[in-house]
Amino acid sequence: MTQMIETKSATVLDGIAIAAEIKAEVAAEVAKLKQQGIVPGLAVILVGDVAASQIYVRSKVKTCAELGIYSEMLTPPASITTEEMLTLVADLNARDEIDGILIQLPLPAHVDTKRLLEAVSPQKDVDGFHPINAGRLQSGQPALAPCTPAGIIEILKRSGIAIAGKNAVVVGRSDIVGKPAAMMLLNASATVTVCHSRTVDLPKFTREADILVAAIGRPGFVTADMVKPGATLIDVGINRLTDAAEVERLFPADARRAEGFAKRGSTVVGDIEPAAFAISGAYTPVPGGVGALTIAMLMQNTITAAKARRAATTASESETEA
Ligand code: GUN
Repeated sequence: MTQMIETKSATVLDGIAIAAEIKAEVAAEVAKLKQQGIVPGLAVILVGDVAASQIYVRSKVKTCAELGIYSEMLTPPASITTEEMLTLVADLNARDEIDGILIQLPLPAHVDTKRLLEAVSPQKDVDGFHPINAGRLQSGQPALAPCTPAGIIEILKRSGIAIAGKNAVVVGRSDIVGKPAAMMLLNASATVTVCHSRTVDLPKFTREADILVAAIGRPGFVTADMVKPGATLIDVGINRLTDAAEVERLFPADARRAEGFAKRGSTVVGDIEPAAFAISGAYTPVPGGVGALTIAMLMQNTITAAKARRAATTASESETEA
């Protein structure tokens, strides 16, 4: 007797398409705000000349222009002190036309990053890194939430993937991605496990995941044998590979990858090996998955910040007048 093996190909969760949808919504919100005489504004501070940061920041500024958001880029040298940075941030906190302040990370080692992130007004903290916003998020209050984890939730919701009651496993416990992603999944009623570099028997946990979020920063770290067939895989990793043998190992018989690699001498891969995607129910590709959402969510946070702060300002002004 022949046995029927049903195979269903995995759904690709198209981050670029979802980001485009969100950006269109933001552009419509910007147009509405402009009718009320409000032009949302974002200030981005880029310290020194870290190549990757320059690329990210340029992309953020360009997206602002596309959506009608005013933006400003401040580019102090790598020699700037914490005190000088604090002065820059205080100036931006005080300016009414600036709704969002983003300090691109990482900062030079001599700069006190935690102190600076705490100096940003929580109302203008569009990265969601201020402890006040982290606290609001964890206590289920409206908060400016970190952009990458917020993007993950948007991908799941807009793709109709249920979160409530599911086992969500987050691998990685960074303040920027892992911890807030776990909190947001918990707020959406998933049963959440956070794994990290000291987790004993990681595959035991990842194999239980209905939703697996990989935010480790190591190419192809999550292998197919660590994944439950049919699971939803969210790959947050953006790793640049330059080793031809490693590219061949991760992408055997992938002509497009090989061609791109031959042309550029590198290729970008996530934290999940492509063989795992093949057995998943749905997955975010790299590139074109979670990464595409980060800037869209930053734009959305800027609008949220503009609406909240300016409404609060108007309310307190009318109270003063009354
Ligand atoms: N560096 C890498 N990711 C981020 C981010 O989301 N925000 C900021 N400010 N810096 C980053």
